[in-house]
Amino acid sequence: MNQVKVNLDDRSYPIIIANDNFEHLAKKLVRLNLGTDAIIITNSRIRALYGKKLQKTLNTLKIATHIFNVQDSEKSKSISEYVKIIGKISSIDTKKRLFLIALGGGVVGDLTGFIAATYKRGIAYIQIPTTLLAQVDSSIGGKTALDLPSGKNLIGAFYQPKLVYSNINLIKSLPARQIRSGLAEAVKYGIIVDPKLFSYIEKNYKKILDLDSSCLSYVIKASSLIKAKIVENDERETTGLRTILNFGHTIGHALETAAGYSNLNHGEAISIGMAAAAEIAHSMGILPGIELKRVMAIFKLLKLPLEAKKGDLKAVLSAFLRDKKFINGRIRMVLPSKIGHVFVTENIPYNLIKKIIKKRMAD
Ligand SMILES: NC(=O)c1ccc[n+]([C@@H]2O[C@H](COP(=O)([O-])OP(=O)(O)OC[C@H]3O[C@@H](n4cnc5c(N)ncnc54)[C@H](O)[C@@H]3O)[C@@H](O)[C@H]2O)c1
Ligand SMILES: [Zn+2]
Repeated sequence: MNQVKVNLDDRSYPIIIANDNFEHLAKKLVRLNLGTDAIIITNSRIRALYGKKLQKTLNTLKIATHIFNVQDSEKSKSISEYVKIIGKISSIDTKKRLFLIALGGGVVGDLTGFIAATYKRGIAYIQIPTTLLAQVDSSIGGKTALDLPSGKNLIGAFYQPKLVYSNINLIKSLPARQIRSGLAEAVKYGIIVDPKLFSYIEKNYKKILDLDSSCLSYVIKASSLIKAKIVENDERETTGLRTILNFGHTIGHALETAAGYSNLNHGEAISIGMAAAAEIAHSMGILPGIELKRVMAIFKLLKLPLEAKKGDLKAVLSAFLRDKKFINGRIRMVLPSKIGHVFVTENIPYNLIKKIIKKRMAD
């Protein structure tokens, strides 16, 4: 078992990276004493895999369980799903001390966190992330969210969980494509601050893709440490530090939002975004060619795409321009200067961005 602490004064919490049968979760819950009743929010697929085991663990601690399914899609991060779940919670909330458990990927985590942040002005919740993306990224840091028809994550709150329990065994049932998607975020951490993590993934990519427990443990712990440190120093995205987590996401998001690219999942879209940002940095004479080659090569090793399919460049560019990356009319992006270091800049010629995006849409 490994533990990483997120230090945020009275909002501090541990991230447990375990490879067990929920024993470490049980131990922590006894100490945390969060309530008499746990409301588990999940979806039917994850419930079938891990719901019973979790309920049994809680019941042995004399914690009563209530389990609510949401649909298995981004659509669950909606106001209507939120109202539905809040209604169910309030109907059982009589003389009990309730806390919430997010059992799932980033969708379940974001929704549960937002319910916890707002029900009765805030109740305790814990994250049990079941995707690699959620273990290395979304379960840590307290960003909770709902989507609106006009855009993703437009409603939200910063609200930290009391515990993140990342059990490596839970991600072994993930489809390979989901594992690769999560690895894209781990590669991101390598490029932005941790050359050692980057080299580790380069060397061990085969074992990682084969879900070797000790390799997964290393990647999840290294990623958790980085995300925890960044969140500790910029909890509410006010100092600018948290911005570096957006590396690859500006162009990545544009590809995700532009019509016709729904074939890409998040990790795939940001891989293309990171490749494009690295190329932009190289074209501007900031990132040496040898580093660019390593960046491109790692995505190939992990079977992550470097190019999106040919399509409507105008739609991608307009999604790019609509995103929230403008400061005084200038485009703001995170660019790498070497593996392990990035910086935020507003001095990028738009023509260069256009050229590189076009090149990355040439599949
Ligand atoms: N809050 C944050 O800081 C943050 C950061 C990054 C992403 N996000 C959000 O996270 C969401 C994406 O999260 P995601 O990639 O985990 O997607 P997801 O939650 O949709 O999960 C992906 C798929 O994997 C399935 N699944 C989950 N666990 C499984 C398991 N153990 N075995 C088999 N299948 C399993 C899910 O049912 C789903 O079909 C987006 O909504 C995004 O906005 C939030
Ligand atoms: Zn991301």
